[in-house]
Amino acid sequence: MSITIKSGAEIDAMRVACRLASEVLDYLTPHIQPGITTNEIDRLALDYMVKVQGTVSATLNYQPPGHVPYPASLCTSVNDVVCHGIPNDTPLKSGDIVNLDVTIIKDGWYGDNSRMFLVGKPSIAASRLCQVTFDAMWKGIVKVKPGARLGDIGHAIQTFAENAGYSIVREYCGHGIGQRFHEDPQILHYGRPGTGLELVPGMIFTIEPMINLGRREIKEGRKGGQPYDGWTIVTKDRSLSAQWEHTILVTETGYEVLTLSAGSPALPDFVSATCT
Ligand code: MF3
Ligand code: CO
Ligand code: CO
Repeated sequence: MSITIKSGAEIDAMRVACRLASEVLDYLTPHIQPGITTNEIDRLALDYMVKVQGTVSATLNYQPPGHVPYPASLCTSVNDVVCHGIPNDTPLKSGDIVNLDVTIIKDGWYGDNSRMFLVGKPSIAASRLCQVTFDAMWKGIVKVKPGARLGDIGHAIQTFAENAGYSIVREYCGHGIGQRFHEDPQILHYGRPGTGLELVPGMIFTIEPMINLGRREIKEGRKGGQPYDGWTIVTKDRSLSAQWEHTILVTETGYEVLTLSAGSPALPDFVSATCT
């Protein structure tokens, strides 16, 4: 697989797909309250995509090699679930943290976006993990410009998260995206400055760090007695894990965050100062 450089019209199509992905999360936001189940969130998301947006869920029946088809229209990763949590009938409760990861297809183009939600009244520890993970994602985003290297992004995220006392999951990474869900290159959330692929205008990829409150190791998430669902990944030490994701365009002068919409959280202060 090779890296695709998007043209002007292709970038316009990605702007639309990515905004729509973000708008699914805007729509879901007021519903994320104690008592709602992740299956109910899944139903809300699917109805909004199909009936309001005219988009298609990219995750529903998604089946990369070696996997069973993913069975839901978004990923819902609660507390110690690192990623790819499958919606179920357990109600969210006050104090939970949940990542909602939405990927839609519009006119053949993919937009991929996730946010953390604090359910009810979160603990200080959980709030801080979500905030630091959000800021860590942005520490990576602001490194994006022509001539920068992928290692610059990974290093910025890793040092910020580790200085806060957290660990970076290594097994999952960001990815190129366009007319396919997962394209080259892989975007690691750790690394050394000045190393790795050099960025050029027209590249589009996600930055989506998974950051654990405890150790970085992960394992398959199994529910007592039941066979593995084929997707759910949890922290090995069962500590909390958080993730945020944006889809980013490399511009002539820097970056453009494509997965922004009216309900996106405000940018961190350090971004407002440097964003072009
Ligand atoms: N949206 C995820 C990503 O950011 C991928 C989810 S694949 C699924 O790359 F099958 F688990 F939905
Ligand atoms: Co992604
Ligand atoms: Co995603």
